[in-house]
Amino acid sequence: MLSPHTTFRRIWDSFILLLTIYAAVETPARIVIGYPVVGWLVWSDHLLSLFFLLDVGFNFFTAIEGRGGRLIKNRRLVATHYLKGWFIIDFISAIPFELLTDFGLGLGRMARIVRLLRLLRLLRLLRLAAFMRRLGASASVSPVILRLVFLGFWIVMGAHWLACGWIAVGGCADEVEVGRRYLRSLYWAFTTLGTVGYGDITPSTNTQTLYALVIMILGAGMYGYVIGNVASLLANIDVAKAHFTEKMDQVNAFLRYREIPASLQQRVRGYYEHLWESRLGYDESSVLSELPPSLRLEISLYLNQDIIQKVPLFKGAPDEFVREIVNALKPVVFTPGDYIVRSGEVGEEMYFISRGTVEVVSPEGNSVFATLTDGQFFGEIALVTKEPRTASIRAADYCDLYMLDKSTFDRVLQNFPALYSHIRELAQTRLRSRRD
Ligand code: CMP
Repeated sequence: MLSPHTTFRRIWDSFILLLTIYAAVETPARIVIGYPVVGWLVWSDHLLSLFFLLDVGFNFFTAIEGRGGRLIKNRRLVATHYLKGWFIIDFISAIPFELLTDFGLGLGRMARIVRLLRLLRLLRLLRLAAFMRRLGASASVSPVILRLVFLGFWIVMGAHWLACGWIAVGGCADEVEVGRRYLRSLYWAFTTLGTVGYGDITPSTNTQTLYALVIMILGAGMYGYVIGNVASLLANIDVAKAHFTEKMDQVNAFLRYREIPASLQQRVRGYYEHLWESRLGYDESSVLSELPPSLRLEISLYLNQDIIQKVPLFKGAPDEFVREIVNALKPVVFTPGDYIVRSGEVGEEMYFISRGTVEVVSPEGNSVFATLTDGQFFGEIALVTKEPRTASIRAADYCDLYMLDKSTFDRVLQNFPALYSHIRELAQTRLRSRRD
C-alpha cells in the first residue's frame, strides 16, 4: 500500500493536476478551433487517458486517511472508499474516447459526438476544486491569498471556455488565422464577462445574440460576486492585523469617551502594542479555552516551551510535574511601573518570569532589594509560609509572566517533595536576606 504522504505520491498527484488543467484548456479549444492535430498532439490524447487510467489504478493502492490522521491500509476498505467516492469521475475522465475515432467507429455525425465525449475529461476539475479547498484549509500560505489566486484561476478558465463557446457559435468568424480568432474571442469573453462591452465585437446571428445575452447575465452576476469576494478577501488579508486594528479603535473610542487622562491612555495603548508585538494581539487563554483538554495540554506545552527551558526549577523536573504545572499556568502581562504584588497582602499565587524585569521593592517603593528577570520566579514565600507578602514587586518594563495559583501549587508539589523543598529553601534564603 502506498502512503498518500510519500514524495512519489505527491509528485504524481501534482502531475495529474497539471494534466487535468491541460485537458481542461486543450480539449474544448481543439473541438471548436479544429486546428491540425500533428506532432506530439497526436499522442497527447492517448497519453492523457493512459495517465488518468494509471491514476485510477494507483488510487486502489493508496492508503486513505481516517479520523485523526490515522492511515487506513486495509485493501478492501481502501477500494470501497474509492469506489464510493471519486472512482466514477476518475474513471469516466480516463475513458479513451479518442480510440473510437482512431478505429474508424466515429464517422460523420458520430465523430462529432465522440469529440464532444472527450469533454467528459473536464469532470476531473471537480478533483481540482476539492484539492484547492483542502489546500486552502491546511496550507501554511495565507488562505486569503490562496483564495484570491484560485478565484483568478477560475475566472481565466471560465473566460477560456466562454471564448471557445463564442467560436463554436461562429463568433469572430471573419478572422482567418486561428490564433487571432481565439485571441479576439477571449477578448470578447473578458469584456462581456467584465460588463465592459466595448461593442467592437458584436453578435450577428440569432444564436450568437442569445449566447451573448446569456454571458452578459452571467457576467453581471459574476461581476458582483467577484467584486464582493475580492473586497472582503482583501480586507481580511491579514486577519490578525484587522482584528487588532478593530480592537484598538474600540479601546481608543472608549478612552476618549470616558476622558481618561492622557498618560493613562498612553499606558493602555502601550499594553496593546506589547500584546501585538509579543502574540499578534491574541488572548492565548481564550483561544485555548475553545480546545478539548488533550489538545489544550499539547498546545500549552508547546507554547510554554520557552518558560520550561528558562526556569531552572522546571528543567530537570519530572515530565508529570511539568505537564501538570504547564497546564495550570496562566499568561499575564504587566506594563512598566505596575505593582504585581503588594507587600502585606494575602498571597494566592506565584509568578514565573518569561520575559521582562521586575523589582523587589519596599512597601513605599523607594528602595529596591533585588531585581528578577527571565526564568526566575517570585511570590513563593506567601504560598510556602502562608504569611502575607514580604515585599512588593514592581514591573520595570513590559513583563510576560505566568501565574500559578495556590491550589495547584499545593496539589502538585505534594507529590514532588524534592521540588517543594527546593522552593522552600529559596524562600528561606530570600526571607533571611530580607531580615539581614
Ligand atoms: P512573597 O512574600 O509571596 O511576595 C513578595 C515576593 O518577593 C516574595 O514572595 C519573594 O518571591 C520575593 N522576594 C522577597 N525578597 C526577595 C529577595 N531578597 N530577593 C528576591 N526575591 C525576593
